[in-house]
Amino acid sequence: MTVAKLLPAIGHIPAFELATALPEDVDVLVVPVFTGEDGLELPTDSLTADVAEPLLAALELVGATGAHGELTRVPAPQAIEAASVLAVGLGDSDETTADQVRQACGTAARALTGVEHAATTVGVFGLAESIEGFGLGGYSYRGLKSDEVPANKQPLGKLTVVGGDDAQADFDRAVATVSAVALARDLVNTPSSHLYPARFAEVAASVADASGLSTEVLRDDELAESGYGGLTAVGGGSARGPRLVRMHYRGKPDSDAVDVALVGKGITFDTGGISLKPPAHMENMISDMGGAASIIASMQLVAALQLPLNVTATIPMAENMPSATSYRPGDVITQYGGKTCEVLNTDAEGRLVLADAIVRACEDNPSYLIDTATLTGAQIVALGNRTSGVMGTDEFRDQVAEAGQAVGEDAWAVPIPAELAEGLKTPVADIRNVSNDRAGGMMVAAAYLREFVGDDVQWAHVDIAGPSYNTSKPWGYTPAKASGVPVRTIAKVLTDLAEQ
Ligand code: BES
Ligand code: MN
Ligand code: ZN
Repeated sequence: MTVAKLLPAIGHIPAFELATALPEDVDVLVVPVFTGEDGLELPTDSLTADVAEPLLAALELVGATGAHGELTRVPAPQAIEAASVLAVGLGDSDETTADQVRQACGTAARALTGVEHAATTVGVFGLAESIEGFGLGGYSYRGLKSDEVPANKQPLGKLTVVGGDDAQADFDRAVATVSAVALARDLVNTPSSHLYPARFAEVAASVADASGLSTEVLRDDELAESGYGGLTAVGGGSARGPRLVRMHYRGKPDSDAVDVALVGKGITFDTGGISLKPPAHMENMISDMGGAASIIASMQLVAALQLPLNVTATIPMAENMPSATSYRPGDVITQYGGKTCEVLNTDAEGRLVLADAIVRACEDNPSYLIDTATLTGAQIVALGNRTSGVMGTDEFRDQVAEAGQAVGEDAWAVPIPAELAEGLKTPVADIRNVSNDRAGGMMVAAAYLREFVGDDVQWAHVDIAGPSYNTSKPWGYTPAKASGVPVRTIAKVLTDLAEQ
């Protein structure tokens, strides 16, 4: 079955078209504008003088300055074949960054609600950045509302990008990136009533099928039998049993070695379990599978980009519920591979399902392992809502954090201080799942995971508790709710590794 049939709803993204000339029937032409020394400036590389002069006059008349983020919509001057022009401010043209272009295009996409067909001429905007910005910002998820959307509230229908003859490869890459991020968002936005472990596993298998990847799914009974004690304990409180999904991409036909292992936390809902969470905002815990969603989406993207790497994803899926069959504080569980863990808080469930998955992933002897998870509220305390925390082996951790910064998914490298790891010692098991101290909760969780990573594996753990889910207003190309972070970071790391 297709993903669209397995989910109750999927988000809308604009259709994209690459053209060599401006089509005749566009509603809105989108043009970047700058703050120059003498005021408003238009790009000189993509507009001819007969077009630029009347447009500049019209924009100046209504007070456009070109400041970053400023949007100005005017009726199109006669020389332009469009109904109106949307000028998107980018600030000083010498200082504009790729992500500012994406953010501005994202804001522009949201301002084009009710517009069927917009076009933009690539030049200063950059082809990939404009498609990513319009695609990510133009994403809209309506969920399960039964009424029709009126035409004036419909999200932007189509964007034509006018680019050179050599633009096709960049165009395809950017569109594949937008589709992958949209998939991650759709999965996260789907409510837990409709996305539970068994269904989530079906979705992953369906994505894999469509991308030509192979999959294996381990069911609850098989997990218990094979010793996946973390996943079995965490999933045991729910009537909807846990799953472990493995997806395989072979980009190097001559080699069986796994270059990169990907692992993502797939808690389809996190109540906290017996260590029950307070009720306020618990509904946001539909997003506790954001790590898993981004890994599934990254696998789709790796396949679309046909990167010359072998990549295997290992994705634990469970619902953390309080019930008569739940695991309890004080229980000792056995993680996959044999390490025992004293559970002191059933709400620190992510590390338990990840530990099983990491051990399984390391059985393949990967060179690199990236895990990503909505792991700790402490990530938000430490770095805020928009910056992921990256921990792991020094060099690869830094590489992943830099990749995040390069693509506009802000990320920061964080150490795992030795004294925090000390806090996980217990007299009754090999390790405990939380420390007594509230200090450095994000790094304590990473210290737990580190115990399960193979010795020769270069490892990065990306805590996305804040950045993967926007509980506030839309901004730039980030809509409310699911953001799709860190799909583009992972794609950048894999692309860089493939080129090394
Ligand atoms: N899924 C949560 C972390 C989370 C919090 C994600 C807020 C997104 C937003 C995780 O399972 C959790 O409950 N962590 C606990 C750990 C604690 C018990 C050591 C936390 O952060 O409170
Ligand atoms: Mn939890
Ligand atoms: Zn959780």
